[in-house]
Amino acid sequence: MFEKISVYFMTGTGNSYKVALWFTEIAQELGLQIKIQQIKTDKLCVEPDAKTLCVFTLPTHGFTAPWLILRHILCLPRGNGAAAVVLPSRAGTRIKGVSLPGMEGTAGYLIACLLFLKGYTVRGVMGVDMPSNWTVVHWGLSKENIEFIISAAEPRVKHFAKTVLSGQVYFDGIIPLILGVWLVPISFAYLVMAQFILSKLFFASDKCIGCGLCASICPKRAIIMTGKTKQRPYWSYSCDSCMACMNYCPHQAVEASPIIAVIFYYLTTIPVSAYLLNNIVKLPLEWFPINWAGIIQYIYVLTAVFLAYLILHTTLGWRLFSKILSRLSHTHYFRKYHNPAVSLKELNKR
Ligand SMILES: Cc1cc2nc3c(=O)[nH]c(=O)nc-3n(C[C@H](O)[C@H](O)[C@H](O)COP(=O)(O)O)c2cc1C
Repeated sequence: MFEKISVYFMTGTGNSYKVALWFTEIAQELGLQIKIQQIKTDKLCVEPDAKTLCVFTLPTHGFTAPWLILRHILCLPRGNGAAAVVLPSRAGTRIKGVSLPGMEGTAGYLIACLLFLKGYTVRGVMGVDMPSNWTVVHWGLSKENIEFIISAAEPRVKHFAKTVLSGQVYFDGIIPLILGVWLVPISFAYLVMAQFILSKLFFASDKCIGCGLCASICPKRAIIMTGKTKQRPYWSYSCDSCMACMNYCPHQAVEASPIIAVIFYYLTTIPVSAYLLNNIVKLPLEWFPINWAGIIQYIYVLTAVFLAYLILHTTLGWRLFSKILSRLSHTHYFRKYHNPAVSLKELNKR
């Protein structure tokens, strides 16, 4: 049915790349031509035609798809009926021998829906449990659990690939979709606010040697190396918290601190914002059909966090300060995670 597959993957810690590779293995067995491209900031080179199956793999963030892939899908050329499948990977875990699935929510079907609106024929959607990579909120899984989750995922993805490449359709994940629709307010809050704050929790500890590796692997080019004599990474607002920097840093120098979160909380809630809001709501803005107070508070929060992070970044130039802050950060004691089969070198090549 197909002569070629074009695989587009977005990945932070290699899981979604691995899913893409399993798919290509089946395509290779069937003798199909394969094109594979990482979704980064560069424009995707998509030439949809009737003989090509477009495969999209991505991580789940906040029960939905990350901004980076959403943006790329919105910019795709018209599909003219070309076939496409979507495979979001999600946070599988295993606690005391019990496997717990992740929750992709709307991640797969949102992309599928946008592809449909772009004129593609969506032939399959399936969420894939891969080891959770969110090492800001939990420590990385043990080697044994990682191996278990990955060995369960591989046959599922290959079965999915065989099914769609034989011309059948494969739609899975209806229950996560229903839950995802219910969780849309959380996903929305994540996309418009939480992810910006999360990106500002990252900092480089005293272990950082300024090699710039984090900046070079960042799929969103969100890390800026600053400083003249010794360079240090600065996390800009375009960071999607994909976790590549923290989990691939060879010196384990990337941390996220709850102390920074507390500072942001103080700055953005009390007392300045409260004062600001109290005064704004007194203004005669009620007859506008827009929630001005909400918009002003949104701008205020982002500006306050931006400025606080700028000051923090400058202060972190003092080695002693960065050492103390890193030792007070939970991530300093957490095991890191990246897909064991995806090395930094391989990811850098893509
Ligand atoms: C910021 C962030 C948010 C996440 N949100 C979810 C989620 O809502 N549901 C879920 O199942 N997994 C979630 N995860 C886990 C990842 O989607 C999962 O580990 C994925 O396999 C990572 O793929 P990658 O290595 O290709 O980036 C999240 C991870 C991160 C870093």
